[in-house]
Amino acid sequence: MVYKGTILKYSQFLSVNNQTPIISISEGRTPLVPAPYIAKQTGVQGLSVYLKMEGLNPTGSFKDRGMTMAVSKAVEKGATKIICASTGNTSASAAAYAARARALGYEMECYVLIPAGYVALGKLSQAMIYGAKVIQVEGNFDEALNIVRSLSEKYPIELVNSVNPYRIEGQKTSAYEICDELQSSPDYICIPVGNAGNITAYWAGFTDYVRNPTARPKMYGFQAAGAAPIVEGRIIEKPETIGTAIRIGNPASWKQAQKARDESGGLIDSVTDEEMLEAYRMIHQMEGMHCEPASAASVAGLIKVARQGKIQHESTIVCILTGNGLKDPQTAINQSDMVAAEKTYKADEDAIAKVLNLTAVKS
Ligand code: F0G
Repeated sequence: MVYKGTILKYSQFLSVNNQTPIISISEGRTPLVPAPYIAKQTGVQGLSVYLKMEGLNPTGSFKDRGMTMAVSKAVEKGATKIICASTGNTSASAAAYAARARALGYEMECYVLIPAGYVALGKLSQAMIYGAKVIQVEGNFDEALNIVRSLSEKYPIELVNSVNPYRIEGQKTSAYEICDELQSSPDYICIPVGNAGNITAYWAGFTDYVRNPTARPKMYGFQAAGAAPIVEGRIIEKPETIGTAIRIGNPASWKQAQKARDESGGLIDSVTDEEMLEAYRMIHQMEGMHCEPASAASVAGLIKVARQGKIQHESTIVCILTGNGLKDPQTAINQSDMVAAEKTYKADEDAIAKVLNLTAVKS
């Protein structure tokens, strides 16, 4: 049977019924890929580390899982406009699901507010080509979120940020997929934390799906050191990090993230930009996998806490790679060993052999 997305697959866990119009782009069913090199780098014996490739969702991030629910429910209640603030991925996803609603004959416009100058170009281009009205704001994500929250209270426009409960509900499906595929629950989830909706959703998902509370994973969340309000216990007025996706100083789901941490016996820690970039290079160069810089916080965090003795040997760990590496080609180029585009060579075989340091085999 043709796969038709997360809502139909897991409808018994979601607030949908036969009347709910399902706005889907066949999101979900993302690969869980073993990461043996990263497992070794932890220095802990016998770990099974997997990367959940959420960047392989239709718009290249985990946001699609929540957006299929939020837009379906918006259409169900008759909304014709949606709005969000975003560091990039939410806006791309909202724009795509609005387009999908139009494909099914519903009137639907999408408005997105993004912090000017701090959104990776791939994400901005997505929101634009999917047909959203993109407003660049001279301010950060937190300021943009305050504006869209207020607008959605005053005007007939549906908010599709993760303060919309259907977003969190939809994002639980990744936890279900992990349990289905491993045929048990992992011991730890390592996950980047920005606005803190995703860690909240995963914990809710494991709580639904794993009956025995002691079998549920510990939630290990990681913020960027320059944008770590939960770790520092204070709002960060001017968050800064290379992981622009998680450049957030006042997360909307702050309390829920703490609850996920405490109920699961987990932790929320921070990783520096250097640690994030080291993990980002490792994921690409030593595993052949890809993700965007903010996603690498999960792997950087795993390595950090494993070396501090906070991971039991012989355990199973899933690191969530939340977004697609192709969204941010500039960081990829900057982090590569070769600045390929900077130099060109003559189309001459001998010259190229010399550049490549190749020596002829004696016959
Ligand atoms: N990873 C990526 C790639 C993200 O885009 C985000 C959030 C996160 C991690 C953090 O998830 O906010 O649920 O804790 N991006 C939002 C956006 C803020 O607007 O695209 P979170």
